[in-house]
Amino acid sequence: MIVKKIEDALNKQINAEFYSSFLYLSMSADFASKNFDGFANWFGIQAKEEYEHAIKVYSNIIERGGKVILAEIAAPKTAWKTALEAFEEVYAHERKMTGMIYNLMDMAREEKDYATEEMLRWFVNEQVEEESNTLKIVEQLKMIGDSKGSLFQIDHRLSKRGEKK
Ligand code: FEO
Repeated sequence: MIVKKIEDALNKQINAEFYSSFLYLSMSADFASKNFDGFANWFGIQAKEEYEHAIKVYSNIIERGGKVILAEIAAPKTAWKTALEAFEEVYAHERKMTGMIYNLMDMAREEKDYATEEMLRWFVNEQVEEESNTLKIVEQLKMIGDSKGSLFQIDHRLSKRGEKK
């Protein structure tokens, strides 16, 4: 069984992961509309991963005999002026998500909910990877400044991102 306090917090996490998926899908749509297919690909794959994160938490609640409560998902922004603006937002968002995971981990430890702690460990590692990947792109976008050629090179590279096996 899962205690109510943890169940509520995990339901909030499901909502936050679905919101992340919406946010990245919205970025994907925006960059696709501006013919940056590589950026659109990267955001689209990220949106799918966030959906999977939500389902991971969802499945955990169900397996533990809890009740999943799906709530309204806030509408994301619909346009970004530059790739740098979008990726700076992604990085800030992922840092916020890491904070949420750490708070959940604190709560699981307080409640001696070792099963939730075990699930969260996967998310802790995932967040390290997501922060590192997005920060690298932020720094590269800063480095290239106004160079359109370099921007298209990054766009081309991000078009190679495939789905995780
Ligand atoms: Fe599921 Fe990018 O946090």
